[in-house]
Amino acid sequence: MEVGILKRADGSAYVEIGDNKVIAAVYGPRELHPRHLQRPDRAVVNCRYNMAPFSVEERKRSGPDRRSIEISKVTRLALEPAIFTEYFPRTSIDIFIEILQADAGTRTTGITAASLALADAGIPMRDLVSACAVGKVAGRIVLDLTKVEDNFGEADMPIAIMPRDNRITLLQMDGTMTEEEFKEALKLGMEGCRKIYKEQRRALKEKYGQGD
Ligand code: CDP
Repeated sequence: MEVGILKRADGSAYVEIGDNKVIAAVYGPRELHPRHLQRPDRAVVNCRYNMAPFSVEERKRSGPDRRSIEISKVTRLALEPAIFTEYFPRTSIDIFIEILQADAGTRTTGITAASLALADAGIPMRDLVSACAVGKVAGRIVLDLTKVEDNFGEADMPIAIMPRDNRITLLQMDGTMTEEEFKEALKLGMEGCRKIYKEQRRALKEKYGQGD
């Protein structure tokens, strides 16, 4: 993980987790146009998740599809609770996530990168948001699935948390698990998120020194 990799963005980050390679850029808070979209009491958070055509095995057609529109929305919802949007009325905070290489778990890698980019932009936050996916493959609960595991496994569950108070800001599931398996998966997933949190803090300290 590395922060501050782009010159023109207010905040940016590059994150590699397994074979996922992701860049996030943040612009703002900046005055929102057109003005009728402004909120008098808070900043509006916009988020765009985009997969590069070369990021997957079979070339992905450029531009938004149903999947990336959904991921953009859940990513925004995962990050928004961490941001003090009320400090910046009438502005927008724009988050761009570009997936350069994908191997399952790109939404969680994107959230992890975007949270670092928000911090790099100096946007006041309650906590970082740390994310990873957990799932069930061949009857076992496993952390951070690869694409093959995701495709042939029984379940895939992306999770994002604000680690300081363990608040969950994203929890989705494809497939099925028993209640016991779900509990085990949630515990393992949250442990994974805490590992990610450590790495995020290390990346921020590398650029900004020792302060918390
Ligand atoms: O990436 P994430 O696990 O958050 O989302 P997904 O919809 O479960 O996608 C799983 C994986 O499938 C992606 O990470 C890509 O590796 C792959 N994929 C693909 O090869 N082509 C697409 N058009 C979409 C996804």
